[in-house]
Amino acid sequence: MAIVLAIESSCDETAVAIVNNRQVCSSIIASQISVHQEYGGVVPEVASRQHLQTINGAITQAMEQAKLDWGQIDGIAATCAPGLVGALLVGLTAAKTLAIIYKKPFLGVHHLEGHIYATYLSEPSLEPPFLSLLVSGGHTSLIYVKDCGTYEALGETRDDAAGEAFDKVARLLKLGYPGGPIIDKLAQEGDPQAFALPEGKVSLPSGGYHPYDGSFSGLKTAVLRLVQQLEKDGGQVPVADVAASFQQTVARSLTKRAIACALDYGLNTIAVGGGVAANSGLRTILQAAAAKHNLRVLFPPMKFCTDNAAMIACAAADHLSRGHTSPITLGVESRLALTQVMKLYQSA
Ligand code: KG4
Ligand code: ZN
Repeated sequence: MAIVLAIESSCDETAVAIVNNRQVCSSIIASQISVHQEYGGVVPEVASRQHLQTINGAITQAMEQAKLDWGQIDGIAATCAPGLVGALLVGLTAAKTLAIIYKKPFLGVHHLEGHIYATYLSEPSLEPPFLSLLVSGGHTSLIYVKDCGTYEALGETRDDAAGEAFDKVARLLKLGYPGGPIIDKLAQEGDPQAFALPEGKVSLPSGGYHPYDGSFSGLKTAVLRLVQQLEKDGGQVPVADVAASFQQTVARSLTKRAIACALDYGLNTIAVGGGVAANSGLRTILQAAAAKHNLRVLFPPMKFCTDNAAMIACAAADHLSRGHTSPITLGVESRLALTQVMKLYQSA
């Protein structure tokens, strides 16, 4: 059993949470979205400065909400990779400082391991092995979860991540940032059959298609060409129909590969994580396909799909209970494969 306070600052949310293993004691998420909206995307230097302004207040609030004192905290953690270097540094430095002051074990956490652990917050009885479908703004992967810290990458996107595709398509439809939730809402009013779009299969040199890898950049270009053609034809672009057709194509493409992967590897649970796990189209299509194959699909609650610190604290608590801690000299890394996560720890 471990009570852990964790900080997440890898992108545009300043988040602090405390968990007791898989139970959330407090979770504070200060979103910077409104600050970045005027630029149409996240500006790294602005993100770092916002984290600096917000972090101390968020730590105080997390402690107050949990009604705990520092003596009751067993470990202090922060996301250390992957992410925006300046943004990560703010959270990591704060966590290290607290660990030194209060003489607590310190842990760096891989952001994507956090997204996997988000499922445990609502499904505390879930245990590996299972398949994780990670769909965030920066990553799209199929991961065989074997144990805490032991992951095998089975499939990935060859270019844009799923969330990135949502954000780019929203930008070209002039809908604003972040694109995922806006397209999701608009798609409810549109016809998903209105336009046929390519699902982004990846050809193999030996013929046929890769069963688990996908691509979203061709889909994004297809939407661009479609919009240009519709504008050239002089009519009004049916934005809701384009959004619905795009969303359905992404959801189908992710669903086909996740189901094939789970069946091939004999894994009967698919746990979805990352911001795109909030998408209503993906939820509906994946649930329906999984039910046909007697597979179980788990989605975290909406507030734990997008970036938060509870998922980071949950991952850290598991590592800590296994005696894993990080050296206080640990740095941040903008890129780090999930399969390398044990590089962050030393065993007691
Ligand atoms: O996991 P996350 O909060 O941050 C990263 O680790 O990247 O994911 C953010 C991404 C953004 O691209 C956002 O547009 C997308 O998740 N997203 C969604 C939805 N909510 C957030 N995409 C589709 N549908 C949604 N409802
Ligand atoms: Zn994330």
